[in-house]
Amino acid sequence: MRADTGCSVAEVSRILLVDNEESILRPFSLMLRGLGFAVETASDAEAAITLVGSSRFDLAFLDHHLGDVCGLDLMSLLSGMDQELNFVIITGDGSTGLAVESLKRGALDFICKPLHADDLVKSIKYVNHRRELDDQKRRLVSTLEARIEEKTGELRGIYFSVLSALAQAMEKKDTGTYGHCRRVSHYSVLIAAALDLEEKQREDLKSAALLHDIGKIGISDFVLEKRGRLTEEEMQVVRHHPVKGVEILGPIKHFESILPAILHHHERYDGTGYPHGLSGESIPLMSRVISVADTYDSILSMRPYRMASSHEQAISELVSNAGSQFDPEIVKAFVRGSDKYSRLFGGAGLAP
Ligand SMILES: [Fe+2]
Repeated sequence: MRADTGCSVAEVSRILLVDNEESILRPFSLMLRGLGFAVETASDAEAAITLVGSSRFDLAFLDHHLGDVCGLDLMSLLSGMDQELNFVIITGDGSTGLAVESLKRGALDFICKPLHADDLVKSIKYVNHRRELDDQKRRLVSTLEARIEEKTGELRGIYFSVLSALAQAMEKKDTGTYGHCRRVSHYSVLIAAALDLEEKQREDLKSAALLHDIGKIGISDFVLEKRGRLTEEEMQVVRHHPVKGVEILGPIKHFESILPAILHHHERYDGTGYPHGLSGESIPLMSRVISVADTYDSILSMRPYRMASSHEQAISELVSNAGSQFDPEIVKAFVRGSDKYSRLFGGAGLAP
């Protein structure tokens, strides 16, 4: 029966004993088998490698001097073959330097010759204790990962509820805005795919495009619903909506990454846009994408003062303003993306 080593989880049961002295292998393997362990022996590195390659062991006692082979080098090799395998180094050289080196290179314990049965049993108890701790650590990490995943799921749910509530609030303020923002979001995602953006950027872009005009909530109904020409003062109020959008979303930490996209969605590539007159690539990429998607949807939508245009007319207008109003690369990506989308959906239009 196996010796009571004081631990209940992941206990050592299969042992590999590697030493080039038969006077060690024979008595100690017998002693360990007598305690209930399954023991295999190897008198050189080659035999040890063959055994680890064909059987599973929990613990290997390795002699530091195996002829020409260093036990520490053999440990590195065997560890690469089986990462679950634990090691204890046996040596006739009881120097502190070798002990430290053995532990640094991954051994759990270090025993000096001449060997005593008690030393081996104590070492096995210690390895069991370390395995128990590792097991507890693994279980703790796994529980924490599950909790983090659960909380992340909850946060995502809350985030999308807030997004939806804000989008509905926009619609209450200005009928048709929600539909416009959904389409801008859809076109932005199409451009993001054509640009091969990373998943996180695509998600941010989707949200930023959905909320790009959220600042219009802060504009008076009189200005928003005015049919005639806006005065210069009213124009200034309208032009303030990107800043207002940031003021509305700013306190919500989760929206932090999309605030620059919202603030700059009316900048122009040539630097004549607002609110800061940024130009070229100093305009955030997400803003440059939303600008193209926003304009495309506006051209396609019917307005009190003009009829809706076709997809081809909208594309032609985007292309003719590439380099002045829009980033030419984003326009190209939109054209690529819309061509691919039309092919996929049989020319049924780009709208979601
Ligand atoms: Fe806007």
